[in-house]
Amino acid sequence: MSPRVDRSDIQGNVLRAYGSTYPCTAYVFAGISNGAGGRAWLGDVVDGVSSDEEWQGEKPRSHRNVAVTCTGLRALGVPEGVIGTFSDEFREGMAARSAMLGDLGVSDRSQWEAGLGTGAAHVLVIVNGRARAEVEAEVAALRASMAQAAGVSVVHEQYAELLSPAGPEPGAPPREQFGFADGAAQPAIAGVSDSAAPGGGVPLADGSWRALALGEFVLGYPDEDTLVDPQTRLPSAPADPLGRSGTYVVYRKLRQDVALFRRVLRDATARFASGDEELLAAKVVGRWRNGTPLVTSPDRPDPEFSATAAGSNAFRYLDVDADGRRCPLGAHIRRSNPRDALGWPGLDDAGLLSFRHRIIRRGVPYGAPLPDGVFEDDGVDRGLVFVCFNSSISRQFESVQLQWLNDGNGFHLGHDSDFLLGSPLGTGKMTVQGAPPFMLGPQGPFVTTRGGEYLFMPGIAALRALARGIGG
Ligand code: HEM
Repeated sequence: MSPRVDRSDIQGNVLRAYGSTYPCTAYVFAGISNGAGGRAWLGDVVDGVSSDEEWQGEKPRSHRNVAVTCTGLRALGVPEGVIGTFSDEFREGMAARSAMLGDLGVSDRSQWEAGLGTGAAHVLVIVNGRARAEVEAEVAALRASMAQAAGVSVVHEQYAELLSPAGPEPGAPPREQFGFADGAAQPAIAGVSDSAAPGGGVPLADGSWRALALGEFVLGYPDEDTLVDPQTRLPSAPADPLGRSGTYVVYRKLRQDVALFRRVLRDATARFASGDEELLAAKVVGRWRNGTPLVTSPDRPDPEFSATAAGSNAFRYLDVDADGRRCPLGAHIRRSNPRDALGWPGLDDAGLLSFRHRIIRRGVPYGAPLPDGVFEDDGVDRGLVFVCFNSSISRQFESVQLQWLNDGNGFHLGHDSDFLLGSPLGTGKMTVQGAPPFMLGPQGPFVTTRGGEYLFMPGIAALRALARGIGG
């Protein structure tokens, strides 16, 4: 039985996406040089923080949410004994682990934008609103509150905005900068989104699916280990009161070279047997631009495809596409969530090798899109503010990034990395399975890391405790 979910204590946008009602987002990173001043300021900020509870009556005009880095905990005066209860990777921070994450060459941390990955970013305030002007006004108010506080200043600021949706149906997922519908495939969570279990949950050997335990994403709740442990051990979490209702956040600013992506596809299509550029693009992602999965529709996109329709995400790989002739073994979605593709014959659980590595994605594109038909870079900074939530950064986000996106070993693809992201060293390539197979590449870096942070988004009671001051 799923535990009761205390949504009033979990911050908003974690379990239930704000989505296209709030297309504009600002990420404001504050640095704190005075613990008491920082805590007083945080106390004021906390009052406006949204929870995950259902809205009563009219939807709010905007939302505010807060996360902290490890150096931020120190700046707020949290004792080392408490900090030591957070996970190793959070305490090390993203920059220290960036080479391992594949941030090499043009993505090297030495090239990151000011304020990210240096230890200077302490508190992240995320503002979601209906229009850019409204979010800018909120950020101006936030900046004013920092100016009033002792020892609080902005060290980095980033705006992001959803691009127009991919399909005609209401609720169609918006597009990312390369032009694909993005954000619809999310984990199904028991007690929260059970109806999304087919496709979003764990594929079972009998053909059914089950939703994942909440503790995979929110601390203080049973996770998948707890389910098989009769002692109902709870997953590792920071000491009380910080552990309850919190989640670890991965923030990465990923610049996308859309012109290069288009040129590589256009040039490769000249060699591609069918000469179908859209098919080649779909092979890279594993979905057509409107979100139709290649597994269920290998020859053409379904113009009526609706990501919100029941069952639209309910596909597996081994039953119809074990050899990758529909959706290549190295396609982005097959790597980032292999579902049953890694196999584990003979057991009840067809997704055994992949279901502990799921993430909730909440990325938002930034920068104006490159106009259609343009193949040369116009110098505009554009890409994806990649944000994900998970209970264990090492087991979830880092495993996906390191073992599945940066390496092909798990899929019998040698050192091939994810072609959608490309190699920062310019050596990426991809095999599109078929008779004969088609080779894509070599390619330059389509995606460059411009900076990032590992953060912790506390529950709301924990956030208040942080603002009051945590004892040793
Ligand atoms: C600029 C970089 C990226 C772009 C343009 C991108 C684009 C996409 C697109 C178009 C989809 C398919 C739509 C959907 O399933 O919602 C997708 C799915 C996904 N991506 Fe990415 N992505 C990027 C980076 C990443 C990174 C860094 C990770 C993880 C480390 C990741 C993990 C995932 C996951 C888990 C899915 C869902 C797969 C599924 O459940 O079937 N992506 N991405």
